[in-house]
Formats: sequence, C-alpha cells, structure tokens
Amino acid sequence: MATKVILDVDTGTDDAVALMLAALSPDLELIGATTVVGNCPGIVCTQNTLRVFDHIGVDVPVHQGMLEPMVRPDFNRPEKSVIHGLYLDLPPATSKATSNDAVAWLIETYEASAGDITLIPVGPLTNIGMAFRQQPSMLAKLPELVIMGGAHHIGNTTPSAEFNIWVDPEAAKVVMGCQRPIRMVPLDATHKALISLDDCKKLRQLGTPAATAAASFIEQRVEGYNKYQPMAEMDAAPVHDALAVCAVIDPTVIKTELIYVDVETKGELTDGRTVCDFGNRSHKEPNVHFATDVDLPKFKEMMFDILGRTA
Ligand code: BDR
Ligand code: CA
Repeated sequence: MATKVILDVDTGTDDAVALMLAALSPDLELIGATTVVGNCPGIVCTQNTLRVFDHIGVDVPVHQGMLEPMVRPDFNRPEKSVIHGLYLDLPPATSKATSNDAVAWLIETYEASAGDITLIPVGPLTNIGMAFRQQPSMLAKLPELVIMGGAHHIGNTTPSAEFNIWVDPEAAKVVMGCQRPIRMVPLDATHKALISLDDCKKLRQLGTPAATAAASFIEQRVEGYNKYQPMAEMDAAPVHDALAVCAVIDPTVIKTELIYVDVETKGELTDGRTVCDFGNRSHKEPNVHFATDVDLPKFKEMMFDILGRTA
C-alpha cells in the first residue's frame, strides 16, 4: 500500500525534483503540498509548485503557507540565486492554489487523519513550527517527519548553518522538540548524493516530462555549484530534497545514527546551527535519526525509475 505523504516545499530546483518524485512514485500517495518562503518569495514558491504539477499532469492540492519566518521578518533572502533562479523554467501555471492557509490545512488534515500521513518538510520549518505551536494535539496523529535540513560537518549558508534551518531557527527548534519520530537528511548525506551532468544526459534520454524537467533543473544546479560551491566532484550537484523523498520510499537509501539534535537560536556566529550530540555530552534523550551516509547507486536508480514514469 502506498504511504501517504505531505510535502512542505520552498520550490526551488531541488524541491521541484522532490515534488515530481513524490507525485510519480507508486509507493507514495501525495495528498498535498504546502509552500513556504525560502529559496524564493512564498508566492513564487507556490507558483513554481503549481508549474511542476501542471507540467507532469497531476492534480495535487497546493496550499500557500508562511511568507515570513516565525520571528525574523528581516530574514535576508538572496534576491536571485543561480542555483534556483526565481521562476522555474516551465510554462506559467494554469491551476490555482487550493488555499492560502497551509498552517490551518496541515492542522485540519492531521486532526482528521488516521495517523498515517508522513510529513516531508524540505524548506524552512516555518509552517510546521507554526502548526505544532497552534495545535499541539495534531502531533498525536503524526507518524514521522522526514526533514531535509541541518548539517554537522559543513554549512552551506554560513560556516555553521544549513539554509533551511538558518532561515527559521526558532521554527526548527520547535520541530526538533516535538517528541515525534524524526529522520533528518542533512548536508552530511546530501553532499554525498551528487547527480552529475552525465546522469542528466541519462535523464533526458528517458524522455518523460518529469525526467526532462529534472535534467534541466539539475543542470542549472550544477552550473551554480561549479561556480559558487564546488563539490567533491565537479560537474555534479546535490539534489538535497529529492533524497528526503527517496528516504521515505526506501529507508535503506540513507544510513542514520540516532542522536540528540538541538538548534542554535542565539549565536553570534552560529545562528541556525543544528547542534548534533554524537558523543551524548548532554545526556539528553536522542530525538533524531540523523543521516550520515547515502547509498548513491540506489538513489540514482530510484531517480531514473521514478522520473521515467508518467502520471
Ligand atoms: C536546502 O536549501 C534549499 O536551497 C534547498 O532547496 C534545500 O532544501 C539545502 O540546504
Ligand atoms: Ca528546499
């Protein structure tokens, strides 16, 4: 039976690939997408999400979410990054968002559910933190969160912090403390899951709308990473959010360690850092299955298989 999922996104080139994987995987039932400010202004993230669903021909409800982080309205979003651009290079959406209150929709949906909807946040955690704070009773219906975010060995926005957590550390702190099962897919794993230009060629050969779009989004990412954030391998880039979706479909695609994780919200140099207690120095109950490694051949195989499908 397919696993029910909700994807919370700040679409974004890698969010776009994650959305296509979630919508086309026979192992998942994507019941909705919620959008949040992050890679792009919130309204643009919503339009991009609609563009992706229109492009692959699926009718998935999209709910517009928070346009600013929980307590930091001065969040300094890069105007336009090479890695994401602003609007995705797809035709403008003809479909419309189902609502402009993602937080309320998340609360209602979980409260009314049988406790069987996995939540996959792959953007800043603002919508999720707001929902947990407004309606803590919804947590009883949340089986698992699989989050793309955080990092231990390396930051990508500051030396200490990964983007999704850095944008809204207060929200991330609420989520880390929610006492529900959390699997975290941080940079430590996604930077080992690089997709190369050769892989993009193979995607293009598949010829489906999803594979063709994924190839051009990943090529755009490679251009940005080559220029601004070279990876261990040139002409290759992480597709962070896609790995989180794949980890729901097949948990063996990542290797995790159960540790205590908290978020720095008051640091002068370290705001938004996920503080990962690998040595259990805090003697706190571990709260996160933190991914440290990836099965790269399996990840690629999953990408080719799912993106080669049509709706
Ligand atoms: C995360 O930040 C965003 O730029 C990506 O979409 C991904 O979710 C990686 O740090
Ligand atoms: Ca994202």
